[in-house]
Amino acid sequence: MIDLLIIRSNIYTPKGTSALKGRGTRKIHHISDGAIGVKDGVIVDVGKTGELFEKYRGAKEIVDAKGRALLPGFVDPHTHAVFVGTRENEFKMRLEGKTYMEILNAGGGILSTVKRVREASREELAKDLVEKARTFLSYGTTTIEAKSGYGLDFENEVKMLEAIKIADKESPLDFVPTFIGAHAVPLEFKSDKEKYIDIVINEMIPYVAENRLAEFIDVFCEEGVYTPDETLKILEAGLKYGLKPKIHSDEIKSIGCTDLAEKVKVYSCDHLLKLDSSGLDALKKSGTMATLLPGTAFSLKEGFADARRLIDNGVGVALATDFNPGSSYSESMPSIITLGVLLMDMLPEEAFVASTLNAACAIDRGKSIGSIEVGKQADFILLKENSYLFIPYHYGVNPIFETYKRGRRVAHPTDC
Ligand code: NIG
Ligand code: FE
Repeated sequence: MIDLLIIRSNIYTPKGTSALKGRGTRKIHHISDGAIGVKDGVIVDVGKTGELFEKYRGAKEIVDAKGRALLPGFVDPHTHAVFVGTRENEFKMRLEGKTYMEILNAGGGILSTVKRVREASREELAKDLVEKARTFLSYGTTTIEAKSGYGLDFENEVKMLEAIKIADKESPLDFVPTFIGAHAVPLEFKSDKEKYIDIVINEMIPYVAENRLAEFIDVFCEEGVYTPDETLKILEAGLKYGLKPKIHSDEIKSIGCTDLAEKVKVYSCDHLLKLDSSGLDALKKSGTMATLLPGTAFSLKEGFADARRLIDNGVGVALATDFNPGSSYSESMPSIITLGVLLMDMLPEEAFVASTLNAACAIDRGKSIGSIEVGKQADFILLKENSYLFIPYHYGVNPIFETYKRGRRVAHPTDC
């Protein structure tokens, strides 16, 4: 007997276990009057209502979707979700003319959140993260990548990653942890960055990897933060310990960070607002995913990444929130899809694929999540309306009717 049968839905999904690219990025499959069967948290059947109802009329639970769209849960492959405190004062400073980097260089920005996070206990961070996870789930996100990077010393980076582990156990949301000790240069090492890099490489990376606290390693490669050479050194050190590399690349200035994709196996280059042609070549040649974060460009009032050019050049594109208290304070993938479609010239199908299957591939989860297919985890959402098109079309409201994680209903947002 199966645990759950959803009937009478409009199923929309990409298919496969690897990233869709080029014109393939717009390929989604539709089953009208569709049904799915779930057992032990896994999708065991997908088809027409008539056919599945015959087979599974004895299912433990049967849900009539009444024509609502059924989509894979969103995957958010780039967040800085572990933090306490907000930075609305800096938001105001930016609106009044200060730049993001001016605020960081004056000891604010990431460094203000570092101060707050260092004061918090592991348990406080975990509790707060479980609360944030509820918001992610209610906006249809069922898996997020979550980074450290507000500790910037051994004890506090480890504390952040342990908080992710606790939240992963306590919340239905799945977390994929990333170590980003090189997220900024801590104030106490302002005049000795070399020494800090040495600590990241020789103390933090071995401990984080040996204790399985992170799966990925990331670096904020940026003018005035970490150079491409420093980034390469840190990523290679991580790779030696089995940590999978990612890069914050070409967010504020283009200094050659994306070129690294040809030198080391990078799972994704993220941001790419200032991507140049040599960076584009590196992405094409290496087959590296581009994870675009339109919420950041929107909130920083910067030009958007050129999604069209990337897709048309055959680069796999994923979308993410970059959820953080500085440059993009939103947990909402539906808002990100809206920005992708209305301000980045992406087709609705491309933005949908970029938020599901391609997003799963950006964090090496293409085999288990990101589509509605037999054998994949039963992470899915029902929309209030009958098509994915309503996400960007009916913008600015929550389109989610219900979120299911491993076949269990975990959110039912009530606003309309
Ligand atoms: O991706 N730029 C680096 N990191 C984040 C921002 C983090 C913060 O401002 O707290 C980003 O934009
Ligand atoms: Fe980021």
